[in-house]
Amino acid sequence: MKRAILAGGIASVMGLGILFLGCPPKKATLGEDVAKAVYVPPGQYDEFYAFVSGGFDGQLLVYGLPSGRLLKVIPVFSQYPRNGYGYSEETKAFLMTSHGFIPWGDLHHPELSQTDGVPDGRWVFANENNVPRVARIDLRRFETAEIIEIPNSGGNHSSPFITQNTEYVVAGTRFSVPIDVTTGELKDVSISSYAENFKGTITFIKVNNDPNYKGEDKMSIAFQLLVPGFDYDLAHCGKGPSHGWCFFTSYNTEQAYTLLEANASQNDKDFILAVNWKKAEECVAQGKAKEYPATYYHNYYDEKKHMAISSVKKSVKILTPQDCPGVAYYLPTPKSPHGVDVDPSGEYIVGGGKLSADLPIHSFSKMMKAIENKEFEREIFGIPVLKFEAVNHCLVPKACLGPLHTEFDDKGYAYTSCFVSSEVIKTDLKECKVVDRITVYYNIGHLMIPGGDSRKPWGKYLLAMNKITKDRYLPVGPELHQSAQLIDISGEKMRMLLDFPTLGEPHYANGIHADVVKDKVIGYYDLRENEHPYSIKSEAEARVERKGNVVHVYMASIRSHFTPDNIEGIRVGDTVYFHVTNLDQEFDIPHGFAMMGAENANILIMPGETRTLKWVPKKPGVYPFYCTDFCSPLHQEMQGYVRVSPANANVSLKWGTGKSL
Ligand code: CUA
Repeated sequence: MKRAILAGGIASVMGLGILFLGCPPKKATLGEDVAKAVYVPPGQYDEFYAFVSGGFDGQLLVYGLPSGRLLKVIPVFSQYPRNGYGYSEETKAFLMTSHGFIPWGDLHHPELSQTDGVPDGRWVFANENNVPRVARIDLRRFETAEIIEIPNSGGNHSSPFITQNTEYVVAGTRFSVPIDVTTGELKDVSISSYAENFKGTITFIKVNNDPNYKGEDKMSIAFQLLVPGFDYDLAHCGKGPSHGWCFFTSYNTEQAYTLLEANASQNDKDFILAVNWKKAEECVAQGKAKEYPATYYHNYYDEKKHMAISSVKKSVKILTPQDCPGVAYYLPTPKSPHGVDVDPSGEYIVGGGKLSADLPIHSFSKMMKAIENKEFEREIFGIPVLKFEAVNHCLVPKACLGPLHTEFDDKGYAYTSCFVSSEVIKTDLKECKVVDRITVYYNIGHLMIPGGDSRKPWGKYLLAMNKITKDRYLPVGPELHQSAQLIDISGEKMRMLLDFPTLGEPHYANGIHADVVKDKVIGYYDLRENEHPYSIKSEAEARVERKGNVVHVYMASIRSHFTPDNIEGIRVGDTVYFHVTNLDQEFDIPHGFAMMGAENANILIMPGETRTLKWVPKKPGVYPFYCTDFCSPLHQEMQGYVRVSPANANVSLKWGTGKSL
C-alpha cells in the first residue's frame, strides 16, 4: 500500500494506478549463500570501488562492493567540518562562485574518466545542480582537484557525462533561464514571458588529458550550444560507432513555468537531443561561435602549494544551431523522459519515459539513416525533429511503470530502474523483451553496474539506489537515511544480496574494479616537495611572525607535540593564522588542530601537508588548542596554549616548546 500512496500523483497522470495496488512488498529471504556473496573477511579488500553521490549532502561517497562498507566521504561542493574542507584557508577557494562563497552544493552524478570508452581510474567528475558547477576529483588522492562554474545555466543536471576518451565533460541546463547572452547575466523579465525569453545551454568542457600537463586549467569551457527553453534532464555520450555524439533528455517541451507536474505532462512525446560535438568543433574552428561576456569561477588545487586558487573567467563562446546546421537533432521520446543511456556497443540509446509504461529504445544507425534521408517532421530553433518511427528500434511493451535509468552488462542485457513499480527489469536489447525482474524497496532512482555506462561493463553486481527507506531499518525519528541495495546479476536471474544506508541522497554512482585504482593511491605527501608558502620542513623552522595586526604561526605537528606549543604576545584585535605542517611521513597518520573559540572547524593535516586555521580572539585570556585526531598513545598530550592580552598591552611576542617563555 505504501508504494501505491507514494505513486499516487504519478498514477493519476498515467491513469495506471490500478496496476500497483495489488502487490505489497515482501520480506526478502536471505540465505547463507547470499551472506557469503557479500562477506569480505576482516583484513581483505572489496572487489570494487563505488563512487556514490551524496545529493543534497554535497559530498561524494566511496563505498566498497560487495560489502557496502563506507570507505570515505570526499568533500566536493559542501563544507566538511570533519577535515576542515571549505573552512581552512587552503580550501575556501574551492567554494567560490560568481555569487560569492557558497558553503553548500547538491551533487548528483559521479562519472569516471575513460580511455577508449573504458573507466581508467584517473578522475571522477561530479556535477552541482544548484549553482551550476562541475568538479574533478583526483583518484591518486581521493580529493577534489578542480571546480569550474557553468555560466548561462540554471540547474546543472544533465552533467558531468563524458565522451569516450574524456575529451569533454558535458553540462546541460535543467532549468531554462532568461539568458542575456550579450551580458552573460540573467534578464529581469516577467516569468510569463518564458516562451519568448527563456533558453537552455549545453556546455562542452574541454579536458586536458596530457599526463604531463601541469597548468591550472585541466577543465575549460570550449563552447556552449544555445538550445530551446526546455528542461534538459540527463545525458550520456556515444561510444564506438556513436562516438562524436552526446544525447540529452528534455522534458517540459510544453514550456510551462508553473505547476509543472500537470502542465509539463501534456505532450505525448518530449525529446532526446542528439548533439554532434565533432560538428560543433568544426563550426567553432570556422569562427561560427561568437564570444560573449560571462563571469564564472575556475578553482584549481595547486598540489605543490597545497592550496586551492581561484581565477575569474570573463567570456564564453556560444554557438547557435542555426549557425551550425547538422549540430543537433531531436528524437521524439515518450512522456517526459528522464535517463538516456547508450549501450556498450554504441548502437542502442535507451530513454526512460518516466510517465510511460513502455521503454523506448532508439537506434543510432537508424538515426544516422534518418538524418541522411532528411526524415524530419518539423524544426525547432534550427534543430530538425526526426520522425519517431525513423529512429526508434523498439518500445519494449509493458516493461514496467516509470522507467528511469538503464545500465548494461557485458552480455547484451539492459537493466532499467522503474520508479513507480519499484523494480529493476532486465531486457534483451536486440529482442526488445523483458527477461527478468526483481523488486526493490522502495522507489528506485538510478542504478549502477561497475563500468555499466562504458564499453566494458564488469557485469557482476548492480547497485540500486532507492529514494525512500521506510521500515527497512530501525526507526530513528521521522527520516531514515536513503538506502542502496546490491543485486547479483552474474546469473540468469537477478538475486538480491544486501541493503545498506547511504548519506544524503544517492542520485547516481559509478563503479570500477579496485585493481584499476588501488595501487596508484598515495599514502602521504612528500615533505620535501611541499611548496606551501607557510610550510616548514623541520621543528627548527617553527616561528611566530607579526605583521601589524596579523600574526602568522609557522607550526609543526609531529607525534606527539606541536612546535610551538606555548605562544604569548597575541592581542585582542589580532587575526591569527595557524599554518600547521604535519612533519610525519607515514601513511594514515594525520594530525588535527582545533582552537578554543575559533569560529571555524577543526583542520586535519595529512602527513607532509600544510593547512591553515584562521582565529580572531575576542577576549584576553589563555586559550588551549589540541590535536583532534587520535595519532599515538600520547595523542591526549598533544596540546598547547596561546596567551591573549588586551589590545593595548605590551606583552612581547614569545613562543616555544619544552621551555618556559
Ligand atoms: Cu596528533 Cu593526535
